[in-house]
Amino acid sequence: MTDLHQESSLVLRPGDKYRSFSVNILPEEPEELHLHDVRKERHFSLIHRPSVMEYYSDYLQTPQIVAMVGLPARGKTYISKKLCRYLNWIGFRTKVFNLGEYRRMKSTYEDHSLFKKGNLEGEALREQCAIEALEDTCLWFENGGEIAIIDATNSTRERREMIKSVVDEKGYKLFYVESICTDPEIIKKNITEVKVFSPDYKEKTTEEVVKDFTQRIQHYAEQYMPLDEKEEPDVSFIKLINAGESVEIHKHEGPIQSRIIYYLMNLHILPRNIYFTRHGESEFNLSDRVGGDSELSPRGKEYALALAKFVAGMNIPDLRVWTSVKQRTISTAEHIACPQERWKVLNEIDVGICDGMSYEEVAMKYPGIRKAREMDKFHYRYPHGENYQDVTERLEPVIMELERQSNVLVVCHEAVLRCLLGYFLDIPQREIPYIYVPLHTFFRLSPITYGCKVQHIKFPIPCVETFVPKVVFILYIITAMTLVVTQIL
Ligand code: F6P
Repeated sequence: MTDLHQESSLVLRPGDKYRSFSVNILPEEPEELHLHDVRKERHFSLIHRPSVMEYYSDYLQTPQIVAMVGLPARGKTYISKKLCRYLNWIGFRTKVFNLGEYRRMKSTYEDHSLFKKGNLEGEALREQCAIEALEDTCLWFENGGEIAIIDATNSTRERREMIKSVVDEKGYKLFYVESICTDPEIIKKNITEVKVFSPDYKEKTTEEVVKDFTQRIQHYAEQYMPLDEKEEPDVSFIKLINAGESVEIHKHEGPIQSRIIYYLMNLHILPRNIYFTRHGESEFNLSDRVGGDSELSPRGKEYALALAKFVAGMNIPDLRVWTSVKQRTISTAEHIACPQERWKVLNEIDVGICDGMSYEEVAMKYPGIRKAREMDKFHYRYPHGENYQDVTERLEPVIMELERQSNVLVVCHEAVLRCLLGYFLDIPQREIPYIYVPLHTFFRLSPITYGCKVQHIKFPIPCVETFVPKVVFILYIITAMTLVVTQIL
């Protein structure tokens, strides 16, 4: 594999050297960085972007609080982060408020006794954190936020009543996501693979962490009151049992909660990889044309053969291959010996009236299109065609299936691959149309704690460059060149 394998960086750039790397959705020290902004500035700056919430009726545009419920080590943070990434990707302004981060801002963690029933100081500290997180949630909504995920145990009815009172007073909507886990193996794995890296346990051995965390769970278990439709009849909730093995839903309301449920029902935590590639170089790529349904170029056909050989060598268990219904993706996958499925939603962005034209022809015939794309490439829709937002929306069923399935190789197109990577790598919408996804390159995504590890494998088969850089880069280069020329003269 190494002869095919060069190194690259997170978001590839033309001319980059290729390497493998990890992407953790969490920055190195998320708590301090995040909370500094939240508590000191008390200010949320949202870069304006149209939200899908705006499509809903006034009534449905109500801000939503999603509150996690469950004992420690039940995957609440994992679910919160994934849900947040998904909701942002589909266009809702969403933010996670993690109460552990609030607590760590206020005091240094000593040991499990902080959570013991009757530890008045500990109880007061945790209550204060909950109050501040709720205040910040309200601020988030006042500044244009639409969904707030409260990542905490919220394990007592008392705490849930406190959340409900704010929700009722402000007129928000509330949805609980309770994670229940009875499988000791999953809990142990969570402690030894995730909690050992918690800022609470800096410089502690795995044994020390397991011991302390098990006692912490015990303290919570003594006070834990699971959601119960008889005791809390008016609340909307979903219970996820044993990492989604079974689910229970109660009184959910409106399209946003329905989408949250649909997403959560598809999650699993089984180890697997997702593989992506664009089709091999096509005849249209050679003439820089967009759209169409052209065949592969001779070099594209070479890539198809090399790809099949490479995939066979990887011996991926139960691999499935998905392509679009365009000839160039079908031909790219044709030599791969495993079950194949065609998805129309994986087709390339529909370029409408520009179909079959080269970028140069588009710029000459429709200069407005080029300019408008340069201004806002994610939202600009080709006349009679699509924009990146449309592509993202139609890809939602693909994301759901990818979340549900085990190993899958998706053979697709430039804009489509960008939107898919945008979801997995949590890339902001405005950056999605500029993700560098060269031809003849294989992407392997493997899940890590709260994100994805990405590996790029560049095949040594020459191909054209189809990347259209951001106009600011071009302006920057022109300005720099002008400066150099002026100085020389
Ligand atoms: O150039 C190849 C291609 O797949 C076109 O068919 C498509 O219109 C384009 O890439 C998408 O990239 P961009 O949005 O940068 O034009």
